[in-house]
Amino acid sequence: MSDHKTMTLTLIVWRQKNASDPGKFETYTAKNITEHHSFLEMLDCVNEDLILEGKDPIVFDHDCREGICGMCGFMINGVAHGPERGTTVCQLHMRHFKDGDELYLEPWRARAFPIVKDLAVDRSAFDRIIAAGGFITAPTGSAPDGNAILVPKERADISMDAAACIGCGACVAMCPNAAAALFTAAKITHLGVLPQGQPERYQRAIAMVAQASHEAFGYCTNIGECEAVCPKSIKLEVIARMNRDFLKALVTGRGASGHA
Ligand code: SF4
Ligand code: FES
Repeated sequence: MSDHKTMTLTLIVWRQKNASDPGKFETYTAKNITEHHSFLEMLDCVNEDLILEGKDPIVFDHDCREGICGMCGFMINGVAHGPERGTTVCQLHMRHFKDGDELYLEPWRARAFPIVKDLAVDRSAFDRIIAAGGFITAPTGSAPDGNAILVPKERADISMDAAACIGCGACVAMCPNAAAALFTAAKITHLGVLPQGQPERYQRAIAMVAQASHEAFGYCTNIGECEAVCPKSIKLEVIARMNRDFLKALVTGRGASGHA
């Protein structure tokens, strides 16, 4: 690749050894970056240079690098997953940046997501919200006939759209309240609109909302920053569905018995 097609960028990166370390920004240069590099590949290049210099590489979470696992994510110039809508940071490419750009990289900042190191945070609070109610009662044994329970197309579409949530945590990071409403509501919705999700529908809403509160996430005030940065374009309407099921459970007492 010839020189005129490469970029040099300045990265101002949050470095923090562990949750109790105060942390600070450090400046690095990303050299010989092409428009074809993904953002994480660009960081790989910076890390290779740091390792060659005998320095500590920048820690960031990643796994699939295909936008499906939910492991990646940090703030780029104050925006969760960076400037491209509907895109995880692993799917973000350097063609969206230009030579000489100065980029501030920070971890998700929320009390419920303690920092592990640098740009990596502990999102196990999400796992505990799922464990509180993100399941259905299903018979074990051989797979049931796919047509045994018919699902209207409109219901299936709502469920599939909500099930696209990959649990990345960008919604929490971007929310001024650090609320986990979009995530929790997506998980409640994708089960709650299907026939298979009815037995625990109201119990699920109560249990998962309660767990989210217990995890020190804030409360949703309908600001909408979550929807704006969600890489899977989860819509705010799932929060309305969650609130409806939660209130219905409280008013009718169904949340305790679990019956729909
Ligand atoms: S709702 Fe969107 S931003 Fe939030 S965890 Fe799910 S995929 Fe990530
Ligand atoms: S690394 Fe899997 S979604 Fe980004």
